[in-house]
Amino acid sequence: MKKILITGGAGFIGSHVVRLFVNKYANYQIVNLDKLTYAGNLANLKDVESKSNYTFIKGDIVDAAFINQLFAEHKFDAVIHLAAESHVDRSISNPLEFVMTNVIGTVNLLNAARNEWKDNYAAHRFYHVSTDEVYGTLGETGMFTETTAYDPHSPYSASKASSDHFVRAYHDTYGMDAVISNCSNNYGSHHFPEKLIPLSIHNIKNNKPIPIYGKGENVRDWLWVEDHARAIDVIFHNAKTGSTYNIGGHNEWTNIDLIHVLCKIMDKKLNRPEGESAKLITFVKDRAGHDLRYAIDSTKLQKELGWVPSLQFEEGLEKTVDWYLTNEEWLNNVTSGDYKKYYEQQYVKR
Ligand code: NAD
Ligand code: DAU
Repeated sequence: MKKILITGGAGFIGSHVVRLFVNKYANYQIVNLDKLTYAGNLANLKDVESKSNYTFIKGDIVDAAFINQLFAEHKFDAVIHLAAESHVDRSISNPLEFVMTNVIGTVNLLNAARNEWKDNYAAHRFYHVSTDEVYGTLGETGMFTETTAYDPHSPYSASKASSDHFVRAYHDTYGMDAVISNCSNNYGSHHFPEKLIPLSIHNIKNNKPIPIYGKGENVRDWLWVEDHARAIDVIFHNAKTGSTYNIGGHNEWTNIDLIHVLCKIMDKKLNRPEGESAKLITFVKDRAGHDLRYAIDSTKLQKELGWVPSLQFEEGLEKTVDWYLTNEEWLNNVTSGDYKKYYEQQYVKR
């Protein structure tokens, strides 16, 4: 029996990781620690909440005393750390929140783990889930590899880069068994509608403008969220201590091309004449410091650990649209209340 702490398990990717681990590893005790910010939602885990190998704890990783107490009480064998402030636009309006959760919160977890594990690091593992945004931006060619130098541009990516450095420092300085993965843009079910794909699905459904920053020429590499969760599983169980893996879909799209594909799918699903949803595309003021292009080279993960993405993008996008159209209640719940205030500030008043 292994006891694993998963932080941020009520969020988008975290909920997929929790689901995978709870269902696949009956012999593991999974403890999900989440503050339940606007992005955390226990409805994401309805299907696993009554399983005997799953426990939820509400708490804040910024609270060091609470984190120390939690580690002392539970004697975790490992941590898979996903809790973070994750939205670039929010980091531009409120950078300090990102420093607190992404940097201080990560260091609090590392300190608590060090304190509990220092006599036997080899029997424990700290897995830090990070992003390709730490590498900065690419021009029209090239890809990020595990040895690309860090060059973050947004407060979000700067905070994630900082947390990555701390995790490596705890491995290099104290000998903690630490592993990091850096993944590209995820998409799929339970994605909060502040991010491009779910926001566009929500707006198309409600006949509202689809806001495209700048000219829509920025490129992202999209990966099905369940493929990310599978990669985390493979890396968690097989990576060498101190190693880093890039995770990506080899699936680059300009934002505008992606939105045209999405509009086509939405026309079909909503029985609209072809071209109807695309009329909602609206070019708006660009994001400050907007990275032009991300592309991940995941050869190391594929060759060393045998992971490959499972879904073609159009198929994954269609599945995603189906999920949002059949889970209206989920979408209505997360877009009521505070979401309206955020939307006003981000899109109406700017
Ligand atoms: P998310 O915003 O959907 O979820 C984050 C979760 O963390 C939420 O449940 C939230 O309640 C929780 N949380 C936030 N602050 C907390 C705190 N102080 N204490 C405890 N819990 C807290 O994020 P996501 O998109 O699921 O991303 C998860 C992780 O994966 C993040 O570390 C992110 O940097 C990384 N990542 C995301 C993507 C992506 O495309 N979304 C890609 C690569 C890496
Ligand atoms: O690359 C991994 C990262 O992907 C993760 O680390 C982040 O947590 C995650 O939020 C995501 O960051 P992005 O900034 O790439 O995702 P977002 O969905 O916000 O934006 C995707 C692209 O779409 C980006 O070029 C900005 C653009 N965009 C976004 C929004 C919200 C728009 O054109 N209009 C929008 O309204």
